[in-house]
Amino acid sequence: MLSALNGTTFCVHTFGCQMNKHDSERVCGMLESLGSLEVSTIEEADVVIFMTCCVREAADIRLYGQVQTMKNTPLREGSPLKKRLIAVGGCIGQRDGKKLTDQIKHLDVVFGTHNLAALPRLLETALENNCQAVEILESSTEFSTSLPTDRENSWAAWLPITIGCNNFCTYCIVPYVRGPEKSRPMVDILDEAKRYVAAGVKEITLLGQNVNSYGRDLYGEPRFAQLLKEMNDIGIERLRFATSHPKDLTDEVIEDFGTLPSLMPYLHLPVQSGSNRILKEMNRRYTREHYLELVRKVREACPHIALSTDIIVGFPGETEEDFMETYRLVEEVGYQQVFTFIYSKREGTPAAEIEDNTPREVIQDRFNRLVELVQRKAFEANQVDKNARVQVLVEGVSKRDDSLLMGKSAKNQTVHAPLPDGVTIDQLIGKTVEVQVEEAKTWYLFGHVVSE
Ligand code: 5AD
Ligand code: SF4
Repeated sequence: MLSALNGTTFCVHTFGCQMNKHDSERVCGMLESLGSLEVSTIEEADVVIFMTCCVREAADIRLYGQVQTMKNTPLREGSPLKKRLIAVGGCIGQRDGKKLTDQIKHLDVVFGTHNLAALPRLLETALENNCQAVEILESSTEFSTSLPTDRENSWAAWLPITIGCNNFCTYCIVPYVRGPEKSRPMVDILDEAKRYVAAGVKEITLLGQNVNSYGRDLYGEPRFAQLLKEMNDIGIERLRFATSHPKDLTDEVIEDFGTLPSLMPYLHLPVQSGSNRILKEMNRRYTREHYLELVRKVREACPHIALSTDIIVGFPGETEEDFMETYRLVEEVGYQQVFTFIYSKREGTPAAEIEDNTPREVIQDRFNRLVELVQRKAFEANQVDKNARVQVLVEGVSKRDDSLLMGKSAKNQTVHAPLPDGVTIDQLIGKTVEVQVEEAKTWYLFGHVVSE
């Protein structure tokens, strides 16, 4: 029987992390398999799906606003539907459930992080019965990876290896909306990875909230280092992973950086704070000293590795001295990139209970000082590649200038270079080219292609 969605158009708006982006690829795959066509704007879409994030308050407020204003967006001419269907999924869907449909009367469907596969059924129910359809599950019964996918790029794939998180960092909402950590059996991961390699995928990124503890629930011990070795053996050109928790980063995984040719020399290792007192309050379960020792070992195993991190400024009770500990850590490590966040209070987390009367301007000033340092250090970190030759996986053209190709180096730096004479971007997308770097800026390298 044809789905009621056959012949419709849809668009997916995604907020937040790579896990959400990957879930969106599954949503696209499912709707396409039912005969719906993906379009890029809300105006053209009969079905609009929001894949939401509630890690910080700003995205939360934006989502409610965006869905509210959609009430007045008219349906496209020629639509087979009488009214546009709007669905909210992801972390806000999971957290707020029926509260969303109660508050927003023109919202049709709410689903959560554990029941992606239910979306087509919920949309059809809302359509056929002209009602609001809400379904939230407490935990997952299966990995969304068994669903069809419409990957954003043909040369790159995200591959979830764990879902959920058991860490309960005191500021973080993720364990409440993504549930306890569950690992996917290694054979399933390797099977999917082999299919990608056979289909011409060049780069696989293993995904999880804390990939380092992969396998603990299945095998009684983390098996991430072993998974990396097996992934390397299937013949993928570039292997990456995100995100990893310092407390679970083992010596074996660190060694893999020095020995596995496909494992790219780039590690995102969120530190969150450089102050031992704040780290304890955050329930991170490592110290500044332990973190710095990890950095030392990683660099010993792979001297040219690029490091990035996440930092929260203004955790409740953070003093100037605490902040300076973070500042000095950033100065000492010399990250290639730092994702900086101002602390955002999340109801239901333990940190939301901590009294704090630090003025907003003080926190903003710390944040600005940190950003300024991060930029200076990123510029410095890139200088080692000035005049070097780097391998670049081409992704497309530069946003500002379409005569320049844009790609990523092994260290995940953005690289720009003029398209070689007589070569079109379509011939290069998904291919690895060698670039002679002439300039190293704060956020990108610039050079010319020496071999295609
Ligand atoms: N406030 C600010 N930043 C947060 N993060 C997680 N929760 C919060 C919060 N409540 C940041 C952390 C994490 C990244 C994905 O988001 O730095 O590593
Ligand atoms: Fe949140 Fe901590 Fe889990 Fe990361 S490890 S998702 S910061 S609780």
